Amino acid sequence: MKAVIRGVGHYLPKRVLTNFDLEKMVETSDTWIRERTGIQTRHIAAEDEYTSTLAINAAKEALADAEMTGEDIDMIILATTTPDDTTPATAVKVQEAINMMHGCAFDVQAACSGFMYAMSVANQYIISGSARNVLIIGAETLSRIVDWKDRNTCVLFGDGAGAAVLGVATKEEEASGAGILDVIIHSDGRFRHLLTTTGGVSRTQTAGYVLMEGREVFRHAVTNLADVADEVLKRARVDVKDVDYLVPHQANVRIIEGTAKKLGIGMDKVILTLPQQGNTSAASIPLALYEGIKSGQLQRGQLILLDAMGGGFTWAGALIRL
Ligand code: UT7
Repeated sequence: MKAVIRGVGHYLPKRVLTNFDLEKMVETSDTWIRERTGIQTRHIAAEDEYTSTLAINAAKEALADAEMTGEDIDMIILATTTPDDTTPATAVKVQEAINMMHGCAFDVQAACSGFMYAMSVANQYIISGSARNVLIIGAETLSRIVDWKDRNTCVLFGDGAGAAVLGVATKEEEASGAGILDVIIHSDGRFRHLLTTTGGVSRTQTAGYVLMEGREVFRHAVTNLADVADEVLKRARVDVKDVDYLVPHQANVRIIEGTAKKLGIGMDKVILTLPQQGNTSAASIPLALYEGIKSGQLQRGQLILLDAMGGGFTWAGALIRL
């Protein structure tokens, strides 16, 4: 059995924070942020919006797009670094909101690679025949764990959510080659201190603020992203020339350009949401996927390469024929 994407959804909070707004908050400039990161604006959740609010909106749109209801879904996997509560998982709030009273819902935490981890688990459940339809979500309110006085990090992140419904490919779809060809996930805990938070539930009884050694993360990101892309291409026996689009994690346009160059993929074949959305961590890949599909750049039959890298370090790559 093979898993295919049945529908996609998204949600971005209304409030937009521009680089010019940030100029009034920390010692920075629109020019520095644009030139060093490629970011121009990011969305910030309203006070009464939580990660679950964003996730539920994205999930409902993905379900409508797939022409399904909660009753059709066997499993929800929600990737986030910013859950509503320490327990229970934010995923169960989505489960309740979509009237799904069977199956299971749980969170995964793999920082910016979280959505790819969720995709990997969902894919395994589908190809093993243990689940038919799985709702996967990446949702974040990173604005809640950003130190708004730290210019090294506060200019980078944004809030948002993206979702996808994965289902079992029909015989016709299988014959056409559609579906998830492979997902590869990696982590290496030796580098966990390079992208972390100042605290956590067990250690400090707080959520802490994002702490990053940007230059080091940057250096590892380009290498790991290009390596995992190569790995997934090799394992699927696909030539990079046959890739129609790259849907990368949106952290820094220079990282994306560096990775694309290493892979030999032109920037005209890359989906970019970074300028408008900033880095939304686990939400960034599904938001880019959504944008690509809804803008018409990504179309049925195309071969899409996805790759992500984040705290842990975690990194991941996937190949999907839409
Ligand atoms: O999503 C998970 C993965 N995350 C990433 O992939 C992020 C990876 N890292 C990056 O994207 C980049 O390293 C940053 C955007 C975070 C930083 O860019 P950089 O080109 O690596 O800058 P830097 O850290 O080397 O800093 C260069 C200078 C420093 O000043 P000095 O020491 O040269 O005087 C910083 O203090 O830029 C300064 N700086 C800023 N200046 C204006 C750092 N942040 C800012 C700022 N505005 N916001």
